[in-house]
Amino acid sequence: MSNLAKNYNRKKISFVRGKGSFLYTKDGTKYLDFVQGIAVNSLGHAHPELIKTINKQSKKLWHVSNAFQIPEGETLAKKLAKKTFADYVIFQNSGAEATEAAIKVARRYFFSIGKSYKNKILCIKNSFHGRTIAAIYASGSKKMTEGFGPKVPGFDHIEFRDFKPRFPNLRKKITNKTAAIMVETVLGEGGIKPIPNECLKYLRKICNEKKILLILDEVQSGVGRSGDFFAFEKSKVKPDIVPIAKGIGGGFPIGAVLMNKKVASGMTPGTHGSTFGGNPLAMKIGTKVVDIITNKSFLKNVRKNSDYFYNELNKIKNRFPKIIKNIRGRGLLIGIQLYSNQSKFIMDLMKYKLLTIRAAENVIRILPPLNVKKKEITLAISIINKVCEKISK
Ligand SMILES: Cc1ncc(COP(=O)(O)O)c(C=O)c1O
Repeated sequence: MSNLAKNYNRKKISFVRGKGSFLYTKDGTKYLDFVQGIAVNSLGHAHPELIKTINKQSKKLWHVSNAFQIPEGETLAKKLAKKTFADYVIFQNSGAEATEAAIKVARRYFFSIGKSYKNKILCIKNSFHGRTIAAIYASGSKKMTEGFGPKVPGFDHIEFRDFKPRFPNLRKKITNKTAAIMVETVLGEGGIKPIPNECLKYLRKICNEKKILLILDEVQSGVGRSGDFFAFEKSKVKPDIVPIAKGIGGGFPIGAVLMNKKVASGMTPGTHGSTFGGNPLAMKIGTKVVDIITNKSFLKNVRKNSDYFYNELNKIKNRFPKIIKNIRGRGLLIGIQLYSNQSKFIMDLMKYKLLTIRAAENVIRILPPLNVKKKEITLAISIINKVCEKISK
């Protein structure tokens, strides 16, 4: 009997080691891992540079309190500020902590300018910002909040639709109590649905008009996953606050909230903290990941591989138009939307040793490491094709 609580529906398989894009079971069976801890292992398993970094730092210093200066965190924050819209960073340990910190930063900003009545966050219905008690109410999802009442107040919801108007009644939903709009740049759990650039621009315009803040949740889509450092970059929109996590640690738990100077002014000493957040070991690893990912040729390669992947997937879609409804996503955050439930398809892919994971709306989520090799994509394509052939027989 397992003593782990039953809050996950785990597949009956476990792994003993990983290397690059592959995972291995105890008996040596090799799986192509296009889940990568759900967009966490951005550089694949056991990346040599990360092993070197962790080994070196583990002999020096793991953890000190945020009561002291942490130069390793200064370095990573400086790099993030240099490469992004951000002026300031607060480090955390996970995505949900980062989104909660984003909410705190937004509310605290309005408090600090004497407008504490502005504390509501407007989110997309059925989005995903994590599993903490406030983050589940931010999602506006019945499934995630059921049984966890009382309801946490302070969140309103808008719809995000596949057709126009994309955000119906958006203006009406913004009241004088609204502090911020918070959306995932690409809805991940919600079915790999990118918010089009013109819609991001529209959100920014409304936020400017109403003098409220724009929070873009890049926990899943950020740190190179989209082919740019952030998925919103092509839109040229500048958010005020961006929570990140997952990919920045390359497998080590790191979260962060990035913010501009204006909103950071509210975060005075004592307003937020985290025992583990920003520890030297995490910071060294995060710095190495950011150094590798922000290398120009690295992101260029992500885009090249992503183009190849989408092209090949669209060929399969054209071959099996009754099985595959849509291919969507950004960069190497890819969704294959089926006409019917995707669970059996995912199990079939697993039988052929390809690991993928579900998202809402019958979507199969594909999350290779960002340094995936073209031949590994080709292998995945041949397996997806094989499963489609099997189903269509
Ligand atoms: C967009 C988004 N925000 C927040 C989270 C929560 O991150 P974590 O599971 O690290 O708390 C996730 C996790 O999937 C996510 O996709």
